[in-house]
Amino acid sequence: MTFKLDNLPFALDALNPFMSSETLEYHYGKHHQAYVTNLNNLLETSTLKGETLENIIKATYDKKDSAPIFNNAAQHFNHIEFWNSLKKNSDSKIPEAVNTAIVKDFGSFDAFKEQMIKMGTGIFGSGWLWLAKDNNDKLEILQSPNGVNPLALGKKTILGCDVWEHSYYIDYRNKRPDYLKAWFENLINWEYVEHKIKS
Ligand SMILES: [Fe+2]
Repeated sequence: MTFKLDNLPFALDALNPFMSSETLEYHYGKHHQAYVTNLNNLLETSTLKGETLENIIKATYDKKDSAPIFNNAAQHFNHIEFWNSLKKNSDSKIPEAVNTAIVKDFGSFDAFKEQMIKMGTGIFGSGWLWLAKDNNDKLEILQSPNGVNPLALGKKTILGCDVWEHSYYIDYRNKRPDYLKAWFENLINWEYVEHKIKS
């Protein structure tokens, strides 16, 4: 079994102007494709060939000899999560179940938004910003370096934001806070977040 790059769940121009077609052409078409190609090549000589993506990520996390496989497998997983969570949503309401869960663990929706943008801005270098759920069903915001994700850390992924420069440099140049604000306010598929919180 080899992994493949699935189609995006939206058209390349669907997220304009917050995430341009050009960004997606490179981010999805070049970067994500490269992770899939590299992963398949690395698995050719690995005993993990044939395992699920989730099992590969858990088996290789924090193991020095498996770092290349982990990095590419995790980045494949992370980008699938990212694409699935994006939707231009400027006029959609936050589902009640999402609002209730966020208020319970962060005090208010505004406090949650502020903390997400602040923590995303504070990630040094390449990485991901996550909303995750721990084993006690508590929501928490995580910063992770490179390809590390909640799955590797034994938690459940609810929402992820790619803060590698390839995610925003074409549209926002070096202004990561502007990208994070635009993402939070306009690009989150809150129905997907609701599905993840409930599942
Ligand atoms: Fe990326």
